[in-house]
Amino acid sequence: MTTDIRKLLKDPSLFKEEAFINGKWVKSSSGKTFPINNPANNEIIAQVANLDAADADKAIAAANAAFPKWKSITGKERAGLMRKWFDLILQNKDDLAILMTLEQGKPLTESAGEVVYGASFIEWYAEEAKRVSGTIPTTIWGDKRFMVLKQPVGVCVAITPWNFPNAMITRKIAPAMAAGCTIVIKPAEQTPLSALALAELAIRAGIPEGVMNIVTADADQSIAIGKTLCASPVVRHLSFTGSTEVGRILMSQCAPTVKKLGLELGGHAPFIVFEDADIDAAVTGAIASKYRNSGQTCVCANRIYVHKKVHDAFVEKFSKAVQTIKVGNGMDAGVSQGPLIDHAALEKVERHIADALSKGAKLVTGGKPSPLGGTFYEPTILANVTSNMLITYEETFGPVAPIIPFESDDEVVELANNSQYGLASYFYSRDIGRIWKVAEALEYGMVGVNSGILANEVVPFGGVKQSGLGREGSVFGMDEYLELKYVCITL
Ligand code: SIN
Repeated sequence: MTTDIRKLLKDPSLFKEEAFINGKWVKSSSGKTFPINNPANNEIIAQVANLDAADADKAIAAANAAFPKWKSITGKERAGLMRKWFDLILQNKDDLAILMTLEQGKPLTESAGEVVYGASFIEWYAEEAKRVSGTIPTTIWGDKRFMVLKQPVGVCVAITPWNFPNAMITRKIAPAMAAGCTIVIKPAEQTPLSALALAELAIRAGIPEGVMNIVTADADQSIAIGKTLCASPVVRHLSFTGSTEVGRILMSQCAPTVKKLGLELGGHAPFIVFEDADIDAAVTGAIASKYRNSGQTCVCANRIYVHKKVHDAFVEKFSKAVQTIKVGNGMDAGVSQGPLIDHAALEKVERHIADALSKGAKLVTGGKPSPLGGTFYEPTILANVTSNMLITYEETFGPVAPIIPFESDDEVVELANNSQYGLASYFYSRDIGRIWKVAEALEYGMVGVNSGILANEVVPFGGVKQSGLGREGSVFGMDEYLELKYVCITL
């Protein structure tokens, strides 16, 4: 271990390698740890507690023990604690960003942006904690009155991904905590440091023991822990962000205990540039959507459909813009694209590009590993892409933009909808009639019109088809953690 993370932080105590159960920092019961790798240089930066299924049971028990008290304090009290946590996160933004870049690889500015984005869910749901209200339907039976109460579902589990090590945690647990639920978090094995730092700040904010628990584990133990979390009858809600394949497994593992599920799964976003689009705006949107986080987001543009009339103009401007992206270690100033998370990710990118080129795609720019080596890859554009190429139906999760020409609205909407996924979609047009029609016709949970960026705390994030179940963020995200209870009173 060569980098001493503590020396890079203003507050070294935010660097934690133990798991967090019942308000305490704990080792695994086996005493084992697992290494955390910096994807920028392959250096081992931490050795984190490698918990097992029995440890996960302890976390569930702690969350269960904390639930009665946490749900019975007022929403206003929960809001006050969450607000303190939000303030502490912003005060420690720089340190949280450093931890994130070291374990995940994204540029420091993107990490800092994610910390603020992640904190926004805590602020927003802290405010909402005071506004959880049921309804009183007008009676239709004269001697009876009706009430509908909203109550927390109970102990919740959040299984979170490595691509957003902070915000995918807060987007799940902030509404859960605000609703009065307690939580067990299983962060991705690649990126537990961000999660553990959030827990340290939660202690300082006064969030009571057991309300938030973090079980850390390597890839093998994660499978056993996942099974335990799914099988537990105590756990009433499981939220997962990750691949559709793993989502299906978790769904089946949760079936015997009939849990509520929130699944934010894979995507394959179409990005359509119509002939009346503002091409410069479309280029800016495509860069933001495609290359953010090195192309490793579920909402990244995966298929860029460009009308034949504007195809060449778009490709030229897009290519110029892509060539300004600076690849490098996310800790270095001016870097706008970090490494891919691991070699499997790099191999997938290479496989998609090789397949497309072998079937007639044209390389516009990039197309090879960066001279920096490791898992750095050049931002790439492919033109003349056709629907028989892997890249048009498998999620690439890398910095490759495939461009597909089209001629009519009906044709492109059909192509765009021809996917098992239905998470994000984007299109650029200045024709208000087209905007309405296409926005309505796209079979996606989210549509960006003249915008390459979609998500924030006040809107519902989520997908249709095999992109998942439920929504995160907004008032709808809170409903996921609340049960309705109907009460009928005879007078
Ligand atoms: C994701 O890739 O799952 C999340 C992207 C976002 O929140 O913008």
